Amino acid sequence: MHFHQLLPIFAAAAQALPQSTSAKCRDVQIPITVSTPRFVVTASLQDDWDVAALTLNLTRRDVTTSADPLPLNGEPSDSVKSTYTVGATLCGNGGPTLVLTHGIIESKLYWRPNFPGSEKYNFVDAALAQGYSVLSYDRIGVGSSPKVNSLTDAQFQVEVAVLEGLVNYAKTKAHATQVALIGHSYGSYISSGAASHIPVDGLVLTGFSGTFDHFAPFVAGAGLRIAKTQNPLRWGHLDFGYLTTSDLYAETYVYYAEPYFEHSVAEYTYNVASEPFAVGELPSVLATTINYEDIKAPVLVLQGQFDVSACGGNCVGVVNGTKELFTGAKVLEYVDNLPAGHNLNFHKVAPQAFQKIFTFLKAQGVKP
Ligand SMILES: *[C@@H]1O[C@H](CO)[C@@H](O)[C@H](O)[C@H]1NC(C)=O
Ligand SMILES: *[C@@H]1O[C@H](CO)[C@@H](O)[C@H](O)[C@H]1NC(C)=O
Repeated sequence: MHFHQLLPIFAAAAQALPQSTSAKCRDVQIPITVSTPRFVVTASLQDDWDVAALTLNLTRRDVTTSADPLPLNGEPSDSVKSTYTVGATLCGNGGPTLVLTHGIIESKLYWRPNFPGSEKYNFVDAALAQGYSVLSYDRIGVGSSPKVNSLTDAQFQVEVAVLEGLVNYAKTKAHATQVALIGHSYGSYISSGAASHIPVDGLVLTGFSGTFDHFAPFVAGAGLRIAKTQNPLRWGHLDFGYLTTSDLYAETYVYYAEPYFEHSVAEYTYNVASEPFAVGELPSVLATTINYEDIKAPVLVLQGQFDVSACGGNCVGVVNGTKELFTGAKVLEYVDNLPAGHNLNFHKVAPQAFQKIFTFLKAQGVKP
């Protein structure tokens, strides 16, 4: 008798518990139709000899000058129309919404890692705790998104158009009242490209300096290999144009800085969260002019000081150059000296870095 009387009380107590943050998230498949010109990418890769040759080409000191050896042929085509069903995670019920774009050799797990003890590195949960809604997604070719052609589909300007489609989805289908774009690394370039075309309420860039002058140590140091043959169990289904790093320590060199991270975290990102990138992505971003001056939204550039790909290993004296890029932005703030390497979210400073993002957005009026 007693037992039965107690049951409803337990049930009521369970319902009164605060909803766990993961309960606010659901995986969604979002069809996005884009119409964009395509580059003719000539880097047809068959084996790791070809990747070694490509690495030399992409790290030549004259790679970004007019007589550059980028593996592109002729002018971009007329617009090509494609529909991609993007794999995304939507958390929250709308209102001010953060749209997150991860970097190369990453996936949307960059924003929402799932290993035991990963709470402090979980940007999505930190944002939900502040009352934001969050849309994170896998770039086309990555993780839960479709395995597109590594040369003809996975190109920078296509990915910018996909992000613009996702912003439209957030506003029209997910009840977003304000949208801030948050990027990491290559995802910061994609976010900047989108923010130069469509209005957004805020732009936060990490793993980003606005210059490719220091890109060579990254491309060389990653020890790029064909993912399909490097790890057939994980990536045997990809085409030969998908690349990954040669090993855990090469990936650590390009993404982490001692002594500001836990080795077990680098092991997790290497073994679980990382995903190959497509060879079409690099030459297409290098060959695209992003009109930073067209970005009106307030901009925060938030940098680990010891970032290899963005800054050649020291962002002080490099990231200040962003002042000359974002000349049309309502506000530009930059931080160049957080104790971290490229993968800011996976260094010990992550919780403080996340709070800097929320403080900035709230000061710019993007607040729940
Ligand atoms: C590297 O550049 C050379 C000379 O420009 C070119 O012939 C070759 O096809 C390129 N290789 C790759 C893999 O991009
Ligand atoms: C950035 O800082 C460096 C080092 O202090 C300086 O040489 C450079 O002129 C600065 N650039 C800008 C745009 O202020």
